[in-house]
Amino acid sequence: MRLGVNIDHVATLRQARYREEKKTWGGMVEPDPVALAEMAIKGGADGITLHLREDRRHIQDEDLLRMKRNISRPINLEMACTEEMLEIALRVQPNSVCLVPEGREEVTTEGGLDIVEREKQVVPVLKTLLQNQIIVSLFIDPDEVQIRKAHQLKCPFIELNTGRFSHAFEEGGMDTEWRRLLNSVFLGNKLGLRINAGHGINYNNISEIVKIPHLHELNIGHSIVSRAMWVGMTDAVARIKMLCRNDEKSLIF
Ligand code: PXP
Repeated sequence: MRLGVNIDHVATLRQARYREEKKTWGGMVEPDPVALAEMAIKGGADGITLHLREDRRHIQDEDLLRMKRNISRPINLEMACTEEMLEIALRVQPNSVCLVPEGREEVTTEGGLDIVEREKQVVPVLKTLLQNQIIVSLFIDPDEVQIRKAHQLKCPFIELNTGRFSHAFEEGGMDTEWRRLLNSVFLGNKLGLRINAGHGINYNNISEIVKIPHLHELNIGHSIVSRAMWVGMTDAVARIKMLCRNDEKSLIF
């Protein structure tokens, strides 16, 4: 299973101190998401994911440009379905785009994109990206109606939101949420969709995720960046990459 490392929270830490800085990335303006992405690749990341939010609370436009210029692995841009973001994606040409919902008040992405309700907004962005040879995935909840809609819209990839599963893993009710993911993956696979998953996956609950067949890639951010504070980014990524391969059972640190 491939691993996409979401690097946003490296930028969250940088912005906590350097929100007003407009330039001079690298050097004393630290930590640098591009440098950390390089370390993640050394640890085995198959791709780097970054979310350019409308309010630019973590990743900045300059980060995306530098990432595209300097990083040797595919860049996956998470973005909202807006004209501004579409223009940026067409200009920067990431390898793939994951369309996500965006609420200004949320701390992180909280639910899947409702592609049934927001079809009118999603379709033009999806079509334009695909016409420009950018792979697209739709970040959706593990829900039959959403999956069938993704298939109807001819989107090649979906990313299933594992947020509810991750929450249930800690709070109870994990079996129901795990089965919901499993059934969603079976349905998506039957329809010919490629399936990624992400949100709230960590060094413990990944042991359940890797039991699910047909998953192409996991996108993981917060737990890797947190672990990196203990062991460094390269080791943090190497460790979760090993767990992605299902070589070893989970580990609590
Ligand atoms: N996938 C998507 C679409 C996301 O929005 C996020 C959070 O930015 C992630 C994966 C990674 O989630 P986490 O940081 O909880 O690992």
